Amino acid sequence: MAKLVINGGNRLYGSVEIQGAKNAVLPLFAATVLTDEKVIIKNVPDLVDVHNMAKILNSLGADVVRKGTVTEITARDLKSSEITHVLAKELRSSIFILGPVLGRLRQAKVAYPGGCDIGLRPIDIHLKALREMNVKIIERSGYIYCDASNIISGELMLDYPSVGATENIMLAAVTTKGKTTIMNAAREPEIVDLQNLLNAMGGSIKGAGTSFIEIEGVDKLHGATYTAMSDRIAAGTFAIAVAICGGEVVLKNCKAEHIHALLSKMAKTSCNIKQIDDNIEIAAKCRRDAIEFIETQPYPGFPTDLQAPIMALQTVSNGVSIITENIFESRYKHVCELMKMGANIKIKGRTAIIKGVDRLSGAEVLAQDLRGGAALVLAGLNAIGTTVVSDIYHIDRGYESIENSFKLLGADIRRI
Ligand code: UD1
Repeated sequence: MAKLVINGGNRLYGSVEIQGAKNAVLPLFAATVLTDEKVIIKNVPDLVDVHNMAKILNSLGADVVRKGTVTEITARDLKSSEITHVLAKELRSSIFILGPVLGRLRQAKVAYPGGCDIGLRPIDIHLKALREMNVKIIERSGYIYCDASNIISGELMLDYPSVGATENIMLAAVTTKGKTTIMNAAREPEIVDLQNLLNAMGGSIKGAGTSFIEIEGVDKLHGATYTAMSDRIAAGTFAIAVAICGGEVVLKNCKAEHIHALLSKMAKTSCNIKQIDDNIEIAAKCRRDAIEFIETQPYPGFPTDLQAPIMALQTVSNGVSIITENIFESRYKHVCELMKMGANIKIKGRTAIIKGVDRLSGAEVLAQDLRGGAALVLAGLNAIGTTVVSDIYHIDRGYESIENSFKLLGADIRRI
């Protein structure tokens, strides 16, 4: 299995083009099931998760053609409404297919989703909302059987602003007669992207980006061409890499407002940050002061997906940092790997207390989930000596050849 070998200590200079957003593209791909016409999606990253979503669409009968960063999807005749366990176990986002398949075919059989092992990750909020829309749901032998022949619009109040549940409801409701409202909706930028694509396909949705979304059901959707937003988590990862290594880097094609929670904290630790049009310039000179408190929150709060990368930075910052993970209950698998590299971290429940050391030292470490794996790469870029990161298939789920991006910035990193 592939590994990354990193000789740490190089500063980073140059520019990096930020990839299209995985978390936007997955629901956008799912949305294409809602029409029999061709949907063209631009700025699609070349990632394992995206390929797995394409496989799911293929299994339903959609035609998926990839031309570089452009993907054309035509779901003319859907031959199936089933997502098997084999496909669903590879990808948490397989659950997004439920909403659009119900929207198009009014029935679905979907296996429970897989994905990163970072907590229980139930789907009760998705299913409760669909039940409130009068979808009959039976859960049996690892499968969810749904009958939406009598689906209705309604007022849905989410118990928690789940990103996936908000997207799934939008996808199910866009072609459901009448007005569906989602209260306590998630406000992530990827939800705005989904609204924009669905509206470009003839849908009538407003309010995405706020906690109150209104969906006026339409009879039919049509084809469209749409450019996915850039990946704010990849942008944040590279921003943190500059802070951990030192140097000066331009992040191209990304929006500072999407990672404001991160950049505002980094700005207080003697990193220089400037946004010019769609570029973010980051410069970091000496060792940074620790960020005292970081708490993950739903957007626009500090993203859970950047908790592991920011922890890597705190391990070599000056002082003590306290990180609280509020979103996922087992998202600290990177901690013992960082400790193998000399990090000083104590975990108490959902809280991590990190006392910065001068430098980490290279070690053999194991990526156990996507963002935790990225954090180990960042730690390796800082460490004295050689770091070998194994099980990097986790990292490949979310970063387009991460080693090439860092190599272009001057890091000593290679895949073996
Ligand atoms: C999405 C992102 C993921 C990110 C997460 C939180 C995608 C493809 N993935 O995941 O990268 O880390 O948002 O920002 O967009 N929950 C329930 N019941 C449910 C649904 C969720 O209890 O039915 C809980 C989850 O276990 C978790 C929390 O709510 O503790 C947040 O989950 P959610 O917002 O749904 O995240 P995802 O959509 O899975």
